[in-house]
Amino acid sequence: MKMVRLRKSSARPQTLEGEIAIVTGANSGIGAVTAKEFAWRGAKVVLAARRVNELEAQAKAITEAGYCAVAIPTDVTDLTQIRQLTERTTELFGRVDVLVNNAGIAWRESYMDNTIEQIEQIINVNLLSTILLTHVVLPGMLERHHGSLIFVASVAAHIAVDPLYCATKSGVRGFALSLRRELANTGVSVSVVSPGFVHTPMNSHMRMPMPGPEPVARAIADLATHPRREVVVPGFYRPIIEGERLFPSIADRLIWRLRPHVIAPTQSPKPADLPIRSK
Ligand SMILES: NC(=O)c1ccc[n+]([C@@H]2O[C@H](COP(=O)([O-])OP(=O)(O)OC[C@H]3O[C@@H](n4cnc5c(N)ncnc54)[C@H](OP(=O)(O)O)[C@@H]3O)[C@@H](O)[C@H]2O)c1
Repeated sequence: MKMVRLRKSSARPQTLEGEIAIVTGANSGIGAVTAKEFAWRGAKVVLAARRVNELEAQAKAITEAGYCAVAIPTDVTDLTQIRQLTERTTELFGRVDVLVNNAGIAWRESYMDNTIEQIEQIINVNLLSTILLTHVVLPGMLERHHGSLIFVASVAAHIAVDPLYCATKSGVRGFALSLRRELANTGVSVSVVSPGFVHTPMNSHMRMPMPGPEPVARAIADLATHPRREVVVPGFYRPIIEGERLFPSIADRLIWRLRPHVIAPTQSPKPADLPIRSK
Protein backbone atom coordinates (compact mmCIF):
# COMPACT_ATOMS: atom_id res chain seq x y z
CA MET A 1 0.00 0.00 0.00
CA LYS A 2 1.35 3.43 -0.99
CA MET A 3 1.57 5.58 2.11
CA VAL A 4 0.64 9.21 2.26
CA ARG A 5 2.73 11.19 4.76
CA LEU A 6 0.37 11.75 7.68
CA ARG A 7 1.19 12.39 11.31
CA LYS A 8 0.98 9.77 14.07
CA SER A 9 -2.56 9.32 15.40
CA SER A 10 -1.38 9.70 19.03
CA ALA A 11 -0.85 13.40 18.29
CA ARG A 12 -4.22 13.81 16.56
CA PRO A 13 -5.75 17.19 17.46
CA GLN A 14 -9.45 18.13 17.52
CA THR A 15 -11.29 15.82 15.15
CA LEU A 16 -13.01 16.84 11.93
CA GLU A 17 -14.83 13.49 11.84
CA GLY A 18 -17.76 13.57 9.42
CA GLU A 19 -17.08 17.10 8.16
CA ILE A 20 -17.18 17.64 4.39
CA ALA A 21 -14.40 19.94 3.22
CA ILE A 22 -13.55 21.46 -0.16
CA VAL A 23 -9.93 22.54 -0.59
CA THR A 24 -9.10 24.54 -3.72
CA GLY A 25 -5.59 24.45 -5.14
CA ALA A 26 -5.28 20.98 -3.62
CA ASN A 27 -2.87 19.36 -6.09
CA SER A 28 0.21 21.28 -4.93
CA GLY A 29 1.89 23.10 -2.06
CA ILE A 30 -0.21 24.33 0.85
CA GLY A 31 -3.49 22.97 -0.60
CA ALA A 32 -2.17 19.42 -1.09
CA VAL A 33 -0.85 19.21 2.48
CA THR A 34 -4.05 20.81 3.83
CA ALA A 35 -6.19 18.17 2.08
CA LYS A 36 -4.09 15.44 3.76
CA GLU A 37 -4.35 17.15 7.15
CA PHE A 38 -8.15 17.39 6.86
CA ALA A 39 -8.42 13.74 5.81
CA TRP A 40 -6.16 12.65 8.68
CA ARG A 41 -8.41 14.53 11.12
CA GLY A 42 -11.42 12.61 9.83
CA ALA A 43 -12.95 14.91 7.20
CA LYS A 44 -14.15 13.77 3.80
CA VAL A 45 -12.13 15.96 1.46
CA VAL A 46 -12.89 17.22 -2.03
CA LEU A 47 -9.73 18.31 -3.82
CA ALA A 48 -10.12 20.95 -6.55
CA ALA A 49 -7.58 22.36 -9.03
CA ARG A 50 -6.98 22.30 -12.79
CA ARG A 51 -4.11 19.84 -13.43
CA VAL A 52 -6.01 16.56 -13.40
CA ASN A 53 -3.16 14.04 -13.06
CA GLU A 54 -1.62 15.84 -10.09
CA LEU A 55 -5.06 16.24 -8.50
CA GLU A 56 -5.96 12.58 -8.88
CA ALA A 57 -2.55 11.52 -7.57
CA GLN A 58 -3.10 13.57 -4.39
CA ALA A 59 -6.60 12.13 -3.86
CA LYS A 60 -5.35 8.59 -4.53
CA ALA A 61 -2.54 8.95 -2.00
CA ILE A 62 -5.09 9.96 0.64
CA THR A 63 -7.55 7.14 -0.13
CA GLU A 64 -4.75 4.56 -0.27
CA ALA A 65 -3.77 5.62 3.23
CA GLY A 66 -7.30 4.71 4.35
CA TYR A 67 -8.90 8.16 4.39
CA CYS A 68 -11.67 9.71 2.28
CA ALA A 69 -10.87 12.02 -0.65
CA VAL A 70 -12.30 12.79 -4.07
CA ALA A 71 -10.74 14.79 -6.89
CA ILE A 72 -13.01 17.18 -8.79
CA PRO A 73 -11.01 18.98 -11.51
CA THR A 74 -12.00 22.65 -11.38
CA ASP A 75 -10.82 25.93 -12.81
CA VAL A 76 -11.91 28.33 -10.08
CA THR A 77 -12.10 31.23 -12.55
CA ASP A 78 -14.93 29.48 -14.41
CA LEU A 79 -18.31 30.11 -12.73
CA THR A 80 -19.85 27.02 -14.34
CA GLN A 81 -17.08 24.84 -12.94
CA ILE A 82 -17.31 26.24 -9.40
CA ARG A 83 -21.07 25.64 -9.42
CA GLN A 84 -20.41 22.07 -10.61
CA LEU A 85 -17.81 21.62 -7.85
CA THR A 86 -20.39 22.53 -5.21
CA GLU A 87 -23.19 20.49 -6.82
CA ARG A 88 -21.01 17.39 -7.24
CA THR A 89 -19.80 17.64 -3.62
CA THR A 90 -23.40 17.89 -2.43
CA GLU A 91 -24.39 14.90 -4.60
CA LEU A 92 -21.55 12.82 -3.18
CA PHE A 93 -21.60 13.87 0.47
CA GLY A 94 -24.85 15.79 1.05
CA ARG A 95 -23.37 19.19 1.94
CA VAL A 96 -20.26 21.37 2.29
CA ASP A 97 -19.18 22.08 5.89
CA VAL A 98 -15.77 23.63 5.26
CA LEU A 99 -14.50 25.65 2.30
CA VAL A 100 -10.78 26.38 2.11
CA ASN A 101 -10.24 29.10 -0.49
CA ASN A 102 -6.59 28.40 -1.18
CA ALA A 103 -6.02 28.38 -4.98
CA GLY A 104 -3.68 31.17 -5.95
CA ILE A 105 -1.03 32.31 -8.36
CA ALA A 106 1.87 34.74 -8.25
CA TRP A 107 4.21 36.14 -10.79
CA ARG A 108 6.19 39.00 -9.60
CA GLU A 109 7.50 41.14 -12.41
CA SER A 110 7.13 44.88 -12.12
CA TYR A 111 3.53 46.04 -12.48
CA MET A 112 3.95 47.61 -15.93
CA ASP A 113 5.56 44.43 -17.32
CA ASN A 114 2.21 42.66 -16.96
CA THR A 115 -0.27 42.50 -19.84
CA ILE A 116 -3.94 43.34 -19.26
CA GLU A 117 -4.66 39.61 -19.61
CA GLN A 118 -2.17 38.77 -16.85
CA ILE A 119 -3.65 41.45 -14.59
CA GLU A 120 -7.14 40.02 -15.12
CA GLN A 121 -5.90 36.48 -14.53
CA ILE A 122 -4.30 37.14 -11.15
CA ILE A 123 -7.35 39.10 -9.94
CA ASN A 124 -9.69 36.35 -11.18
CA VAL A 125 -7.78 33.47 -9.58
CA ASN A 126 -6.76 35.06 -6.29
CA LEU A 127 -9.73 37.32 -5.55
CA LEU A 128 -12.81 37.03 -7.75
CA SER A 129 -12.96 33.21 -7.71
CA THR A 130 -12.76 33.26 -3.90
CA ILE A 131 -15.67 35.68 -3.66
CA LEU A 132 -17.76 33.74 -6.21
CA LEU A 133 -17.11 30.27 -4.78
CA THR A 134 -18.03 31.55 -1.32
CA HIS A 135 -21.25 32.97 -2.81
CA VAL A 136 -22.12 29.55 -4.25
CA VAL A 137 -21.30 27.55 -1.08
CA LEU A 138 -22.61 29.91 1.61
CA PRO A 139 -26.42 29.49 1.19
CA GLY A 140 -26.26 25.80 2.19
CA MET A 141 -24.15 26.63 5.24
CA LEU A 142 -26.56 29.38 6.30
CA GLU A 143 -29.52 27.03 5.90
CA ARG A 144 -27.87 24.49 8.24
CA HIS A 145 -26.44 27.18 10.59
CA HIS A 146 -23.16 25.32 10.27
CA GLY A 147 -20.06 26.01 8.25
CA SER A 148 -16.53 27.22 8.19
CA LEU A 149 -15.04 29.50 5.52
CA ILE A 150 -11.26 29.70 5.53
CA PHE A 151 -9.40 32.15 3.31
CA VAL A 152 -5.71 31.87 2.46
CA ALA A 153 -4.49 35.47 2.25
CA SER A 154 -0.82 36.30 2.83
CA VAL A 155 1.63 38.40 4.82
CA ALA A 156 1.58 40.34 1.52
CA ALA A 157 -1.86 41.61 2.60
CA HIS A 158 0.00 43.48 5.38
CA ILE A 159 3.36 44.28 3.85
CA ALA A 160 3.21 45.93 0.43
CA VAL A 161 5.81 44.49 -1.94
CA ASP A 162 4.43 43.65 -5.38
CA PRO A 163 1.35 45.56 -6.52
CA LEU A 164 -0.81 42.92 -8.19
CA TYR A 165 -0.27 40.09 -5.72
CA CYS A 166 -0.65 42.45 -2.74
CA ALA A 167 -3.82 43.95 -4.26
CA THR A 168 -5.43 40.53 -4.56
CA LYS A 169 -4.35 39.30 -1.12
CA SER A 170 -5.41 42.56 0.57
CA GLY A 171 -8.73 42.10 -1.22
CA VAL A 172 -9.11 38.54 0.06
CA ARG A 173 -8.26 39.63 3.59
CA GLY A 174 -10.63 42.62 3.53
CA PHE A 175 -13.44 40.54 2.04
CA ALA A 176 -13.04 37.77 4.61
CA LEU A 177 -12.76 40.04 7.66
CA SER A 178 -15.85 42.00 6.60
CA LEU A 179 -17.79 38.84 5.82
CA ARG A 180 -16.85 37.53 9.26
CA ARG A 181 -18.62 40.50 10.84
CA GLU A 182 -21.62 40.17 8.53
CA LEU A 183 -22.02 36.47 9.40
CA ALA A 184 -21.65 36.82 13.17
CA ASN A 185 -24.21 34.65 15.02
CA THR A 186 -25.22 32.72 11.87
CA GLY A 187 -23.32 29.54 12.76
CA VAL A 188 -20.93 30.12 9.84
CA SER A 189 -17.40 31.08 10.85
CA VAL A 190 -14.92 33.01 8.74
CA SER A 191 -11.17 32.81 9.34
CA VAL A 192 -8.11 34.13 7.54
CA VAL A 193 -4.72 32.47 7.42
CA SER A 194 -1.87 34.68 6.24
CA PRO A 195 1.26 32.68 5.44
CA GLY A 196 4.69 34.23 5.12
CA PHE A 197 7.14 32.72 2.64
CA VAL A 198 6.60 28.96 2.51
CA HIS A 199 8.52 26.49 0.40
CA THR A 200 6.08 25.42 -2.34
CA PRO A 201 6.23 25.32 -6.16
CA MET A 202 4.95 28.94 -6.16
CA ASN A 203 8.26 30.26 -4.91
CA SER A 204 10.67 27.35 -5.26
CA HIS A 205 12.90 29.65 -7.36
CA MET A 206 13.67 31.78 -4.27
CA ARG A 207 16.98 31.09 -2.63
CA MET A 208 16.15 31.86 0.98
CA PRO A 209 15.40 29.55 3.92
CA MET A 210 11.67 28.89 4.31
CA PRO A 211 9.53 26.43 6.25
CA GLY A 212 7.49 23.85 4.36
CA PRO A 213 3.69 24.08 3.98
CA GLU A 214 2.90 21.76 6.92
CA PRO A 215 2.53 24.44 9.66
CA VAL A 216 0.17 26.38 7.38
CA ALA A 217 -1.89 23.24 6.71
CA ARG A 218 -2.17 22.53 10.45
CA ALA A 219 -3.21 26.14 11.11
CA ILE A 220 -5.91 25.88 8.43
CA ALA A 221 -7.26 22.60 9.86
CA ASP A 222 -7.24 24.11 13.38
CA LEU A 223 -9.38 27.01 12.08
CA ALA A 224 -12.08 24.57 10.97
CA THR A 225 -12.64 23.60 14.62
CA HIS A 226 -11.39 26.77 16.34
CA PRO A 227 -12.20 29.72 14.08
CA ARG A 228 -10.10 32.86 14.52
CA ARG A 229 -10.12 36.28 12.92
CA GLU A 230 -6.65 35.80 11.42
CA VAL A 231 -3.63 33.57 11.95
CA VAL A 232 -0.18 34.55 10.67
CA VAL A 233 2.11 31.56 9.98
CA PRO A 234 4.99 31.39 10.84
CA GLY A 235 4.41 33.57 13.90
CA PHE A 236 7.70 35.45 13.52
CA TYR A 237 6.06 37.51 10.75
CA ARG A 238 3.80 39.20 13.35
CA PRO A 239 6.49 41.61 14.67
CA ILE A 240 7.61 42.24 11.07
CA ILE A 241 4.03 43.25 10.17
CA GLU A 242 3.95 45.49 13.24
CA GLY A 243 7.28 47.04 12.15
CA GLU A 244 5.79 47.88 8.73
CA ARG A 245 2.80 49.54 10.46
CA LEU A 246 4.87 51.54 12.95
CA PHE A 247 7.85 52.46 10.78
CA PRO A 248 6.65 52.59 7.17
CA SER A 249 9.51 54.75 5.89
CA ILE A 250 12.12 52.33 7.26
CA ALA A 251 10.11 49.53 5.64
CA ASP A 252 10.16 51.50 2.34
CA ARG A 253 13.97 51.48 2.38
CA LEU A 254 14.30 47.82 3.46
CA ILE A 255 11.81 46.57 0.90
CA TRP A 256 13.43 48.64 -1.85
CA ARG A 257 16.65 46.72 -1.11
CA LEU A 258 14.96 43.31 -0.73
CA ARG A 259 12.64 43.69 -3.73
CA PRO A 260 15.03 42.31 -6.37
CA HIS A 261 15.31 39.10 -4.33
CA VAL A 262 11.55 38.72 -3.86
CA ILE A 263 10.25 40.06 -7.19
CA ALA A 264 11.32 37.45 -9.69
CA PRO A 265 9.73 35.15 -12.24
CA THR A 266 7.79 32.39 -10.47
CA GLN A 267 6.52 28.93 -11.27
CA SER A 268 2.84 29.91 -11.58
CA PRO A 269 1.70 29.47 -15.17
CA LYS A 270 0.84 32.71 -16.96
CA PRO A 271 -2.29 33.01 -19.12
CA ALA A 272 -0.49 31.92 -22.30
CA ASP A 273 0.53 28.63 -20.61
CA LEU A 274 -2.90 27.89 -19.17
CA PRO A 275 -5.17 25.11 -20.44
CA ILE A 276 -8.20 26.25 -22.42
CA ARG A 277 -11.20 26.66 -20.14
CA SER A 278 -14.41 24.73 -20.71
CA LYS A 279 -17.55 26.84 -20.96
N1 LIG B 1 4.02 29.77 -0.82
C1 LIG B 1 4.01 30.94 -0.16
O1 LIG B 1 5.06 31.47 0.24
C2 LIG B 1 2.71 31.63 0.11
C3 LIG B 1 2.71 32.70 1.00
C4 LIG B 1 1.52 33.36 1.27
C5 LIG B 1 0.34 32.93 0.67
N2 LIG B 1 0.37 31.89 -0.19
C6 LIG B 1 -0.89 31.51 -0.81
O2 LIG B 1 -1.14 30.14 -0.56
C7 LIG B 1 -1.98 29.61 -1.59
C8 LIG B 1 -1.35 28.30 -2.09
O3 LIG B 1 -0.12 28.62 -2.71
P1 LIG B 1 1.10 27.59 -2.77
O4 LIG B 1 2.27 28.28 -2.22
O5 LIG B 1 0.70 26.28 -2.22
O6 LIG B 1 1.31 27.54 -4.34
P2 LIG B 1 1.26 26.34 -5.40
O7 LIG B 1 1.98 25.15 -4.89
O8 LIG B 1 1.69 26.96 -6.69
O9 LIG B 1 -0.28 25.99 -5.46
C9 LIG B 1 -1.22 26.80 -6.10
C10 LIG B 1 -2.47 25.97 -6.30
O10 LIG B 1 -3.48 26.79 -6.90
C11 LIG B 1 -4.05 26.07 -7.98
N3 LIG B 1 -4.61 26.97 -8.97
C12 LIG B 1 -3.98 27.97 -9.65
N4 LIG B 1 -4.83 28.52 -10.53
C13 LIG B 1 -6.01 27.86 -10.42
C14 LIG B 1 -7.26 27.94 -11.07
N5 LIG B 1 -7.51 28.84 -12.04
N6 LIG B 1 -8.25 27.09 -10.70
C15 LIG B 1 -8.03 26.17 -9.73
N7 LIG B 1 -6.88 26.04 -9.06
C16 LIG B 1 -5.89 26.87 -9.42
C17 LIG B 1 -2.89 25.23 -8.54
O11 LIG B 1 -3.34 24.10 -9.28
P3 LIG B 1 -3.54 24.12 -10.89
O12 LIG B 1 -2.45 24.98 -11.46
O13 LIG B 1 -3.46 22.69 -11.28
O14 LIG B 1 -4.91 24.66 -11.12
C18 LIG B 1 -2.24 24.78 -7.25
O15 LIG B 1 -2.91 23.67 -6.73
C19 LIG B 1 -2.08 30.70 -2.65
O16 LIG B 1 -3.30 31.39 -2.49
C20 LIG B 1 -0.91 31.62 -2.32
O17 LIG B 1 -1.14 32.94 -2.76
C21 LIG B 1 1.52 31.22 -0.49
